[in-house]
Formats: sequence, structure tokens, C-alpha cells
Amino acid sequence: MARTVARATLVLTQPANIEHPKISFSAKEIDLVEWKGDILAVGVTEKDMTKDENSKFQNSVLKKIDGLLGGLLAEVLSEENFTGKAGQSTVLRLPGLGSKRVGLIGLGKSASTPAAFSGLGEAVAAAAKTAQANSVAVVLASSEGLSNESKLRTASSIASGTVLGIHEDNRYKSEWKKPQLKSVDILGLGTGPQLEKKLKYAEDVSSAIIFGRELVNSPANVLTPAALAAEASKIASLYSDVLSANILTAEQCKELKMGSYLGVAAASANPPYFIHLCYKPPSGPIKAKLALVGKGLTFDSGGYNIKTGPGCSIEIMKIDMGGSAAVLGAAKALGQIKPSGVEVHFIVASCENMISGTGMRPGDIITASNGKTIEVNNTDAEGRLTLADALVYACNQGVDKIIDLATLTGACIVALGPSIAGVFTPSDDLAKEVFEASDVSGEKFWRMPLEESYWESMKSGVADMVNTGGRQGGAITAALFLKQFVDEKVQWMHIDLAGPVWNDKKHVATGFGISTLVEWVLQNSSK
Ligand code: BES
Ligand code: MN
Ligand code: ZN
Repeated sequence: MARTVARATLVLTQPANIEHPKISFSAKEIDLVEWKGDILAVGVTEKDMTKDENSKFQNSVLKKIDGLLGGLLAEVLSEENFTGKAGQSTVLRLPGLGSKRVGLIGLGKSASTPAAFSGLGEAVAAAAKTAQANSVAVVLASSEGLSNESKLRTASSIASGTVLGIHEDNRYKSEWKKPQLKSVDILGLGTGPQLEKKLKYAEDVSSAIIFGRELVNSPANVLTPAALAAEASKIASLYSDVLSANILTAEQCKELKMGSYLGVAAASANPPYFIHLCYKPPSGPIKAKLALVGKGLTFDSGGYNIKTGPGCSIEIMKIDMGGSAAVLGAAKALGQIKPSGVEVHFIVASCENMISGTGMRPGDIITASNGKTIEVNNTDAEGRLTLADALVYACNQGVDKIIDLATLTGACIVALGPSIAGVFTPSDDLAKEVFEASDVSGEKFWRMPLEESYWESMKSGVADMVNTGGRQGGAITAALFLKQFVDEKVQWMHIDLAGPVWNDKKHVATGFGISTLVEWVLQNSSK
């Protein structure tokens, strides 16, 4: 009775159903002085700020604006110490233009990467919020030298940066300001169907990232394994022409002998759900079969090895399903994009790591679905136990390549800090593919060694292995553990995203991983 009441009161919290205001993007080739609206935002490098012998801008865009304003732009910018450094941004209210305000956004020494242009989009979003702007235009001070391909990429990075910068997760707040931004005109980067297609792609991926962020932001009393499975099913029915869902109950997982995953789930009052979505293209032959596997711990208390002490971060352990958010976010985007030539399996063994009389004890020996036995010397190394059975299941789907994503270790955050994910793979080919994808997405990854000699610390006296090595090289021994559950014929990569899933300064999820995964799947498709 007491337990029923407690659970009933916890579910009194429900997210509000907030529509995300749609921002419409259009690419235009009009003279910027003819543009009318709230903010004309100009991306400026330090080089663009150089002046000639008469202290006038050399850059044609800045020169034009300054000319219309009778030199006021140059004057105000030097008063404000604006030099075009990355991160600098200033919005000026100057009379004499079609736009109400001019925004100058610093791009640093030179700007060429996707990250620089999505940063520009984010700065535009911040300026639009402050000014409560409805309409903005974005232009680069120098875009003449750009190839057609880089114009397309630049425009799409600006668009996704703007959408993601505007997004705020207000579902659990009772008061918030509605963002006003409705339209963004991208000037000087071309027009036409190719660009429209790129912008549509940026929108699809951005809304998948927002979906992923919202999954991670949701607290564990709302986003239970059942709720996560329901979200997955919703995506499958939204894109039922290409996606199908198979959700397995604990009973079905038991039939598949998933003792490792079910061991982790055993303490929780919220039952586990094993999520499997499958993407098949609308038509045509299939060239590649892929699997994306995500860690889906809706909460990680540590279990009997409970997370205690300062810095253990137990209060943010709702983020421990960040890998699954990346996987389901990618499913959503691909359901929308519908690439051909590729089959993709999305797999999440979701559960909660709690403490109770029915829970796993430190020292218990559990048996995974491939028959391997594991002595659980630490119940807080639970993610790898759930992934073990998920990886065996993925291999049984007959896939060529598997990428798993997991908030797996604090050790990876110690190694790479808060914004870089660790990549572990025996396959140089797969590494190359994923780094090519991340060059396009702008997300940061760093390859780490899979040092086989460290497996020594994972040996058990009584079982095939323990689940935890020492403190040293903790992200590596975790990856070596996962490797025990992957078929050698399959190309496999493990991504530890414990750091970059969460923005510690803003206290919100980032949606990390989704844009790279979608890019990688498209590379493997026939587009
Ligand atoms: N979910 C944690 C890892 C984590 C830590 C994610 C901080 C995000 C932020 C994982 O289950 C865990 O507890 N790992 C342990 C492993 C250890 C017991 C070998 C860790 O990193 O301390
Ligand atoms: Mn843990
Ligand atoms: Zn965990």
C-alpha cells in the first residue's frame, strides 16, 4: 500500500506538452541593405575587421553598412572593443538601415569548421532571444571564396545552430518566456533545390536532437524504462512506412537468457523493457546492415555499491540513458530522412539500477545470453552488464557493423574532460568512417586504445570475468569488457559519451551523438 501511494505521488509530475515553434529558414540572394526585419546578423572574422589607411573597413559588407550609417558602425565597434574574436557578439541599434538592429558576431581568426558556423547560429539565437526578435537575417562578411559545397554546409550549420540555440526545455517549468523567432533568412550562400534540401536535413536532425535532449532532461520518476519504450514505439508508429518496433518484456528477455541485463534490473520496482526498432528503406536493395546500441539506464543509483560522496553525481544519474537518447534520436531523424540501401537496428536494454531485497549483490555471479559468466565485483559498473546482452542480441541480427553509445565511465570524463567522447574500436576502417562523419557534424571524438594487456585486471577466480578492473584505465577496461560480447566478424565501435551528454554549466542535456550517427548511417546508405 505504502509503495503504491509513493509511486502514485511521484507520477504527479508530468511534462507539459509544449509545441516547439517552427522557425522557417530561407536562402536568399538579395542585397543586405534591402533586407527588412529585426536583426541583420553579420558573421565577422578578425581579418574582416582590418581597416585601410583612412580607417575605413576593407571588407565590402562592413564597408557598405558603415557607409550607409555614415561611419557610425566603425565608431561604435571600436568603442565596444569588437575585434571579431570567437565568442564576441554585439547587437547595435543604429538608424538608417532596413533592419532594426545590426548584430556583429565574432568568428575568430578564420572560420571554416561546422562547429564555428553552428556557433554563429547559436549566437544569432541568443541575440534574437534578448531582442525578442521575430525575424533575422544572417550573412557572412566574407563568403566570396567559398565553394558551392562549403556554402551548403555553412548554411546548414548556421540553421541547426540557430534552432538548437533557440530551444529551451520548459516542459517542467510553470513560467517561461516564449521565444519569438519565426523566420531566418540566410543571405549570400546561394539559393536553389540543393540548398533547400540541406536546410531540410538540418531541420530534421535538429528536431531529433531536441527530442534526444528532452529524453535526457526528463527525470527518472517520469522517464521510466516503460516510458522510454513508449517513446520508441511512438517514433516507430510515426514513421511506420520505414520503422517497426519490437519491445520485449522481462519474461521474454528471460527466455533469451539475458541474465546479465536482468541482474541489473532486478532491484527496481519499475520493470525493464528491451527496445528494438528496425529501419528498412521504402524500396530497393540493402547494401549494409547496421546496429546502433544505446545504454538506457533511466537511473543509476550504483546499486549496493551506492554512489556516495561529493562528486559522485548521483543527482544527475537520470542522464545514464544518454546513449539510448542518441540511438532513438537517430531513429527519429532517419525515419524522417528515409535513406535507401541501408538497414538499421536500434537496440536499448533499458532498466533502472536500484537497491532492494531482490537486487543483485556485490559478488553475485550472473550469466549473459552468450553463456559467459560474470562475477559482479561492483554493482555500479552496471552499464556494461546491460550492454553485454544488448550486443549479443545485436550480433544475432546479422549486422555488419555495430556502434554502441554509453555514459559508461567517470574515467572517460577524467581522461577527456566534459566535451569530448571516447572512441574504442579494433577497426581502423570503422574509425575512419566515424571520424569523417564527425568532421561534418562538428561533434568531438577522440580515439582511445583497446589495450589487451589490461584485460589481466578483469580476471575472476571463479567466473569468466569480473565486471570491474581497477581505477586505472577504467574507460579502457570497460571497453574490453564489452568486446567479450561482440562477434569477431562484426565491425564494432564503443563510444563513451559520459562527458558530452550533459552541459554542466547550463544544467541541461546536449543531444550529443545524434548528428554524427545520422551522418554515419547516410554514408553507409545509397543516399
Ligand atoms: N553511469 C556511470 C558513469 C557516469 C559517471 C556517467 C558520471 C556520467 C557521469 C557508470 O555506470 C558508473 O557508475 N561507472 C563507474 C564504473 C566503476 C564502478 C568501475 C565509474 O565510472 O565510477
Ligand atoms: Mn554505475
Ligand atoms: Zn551507469
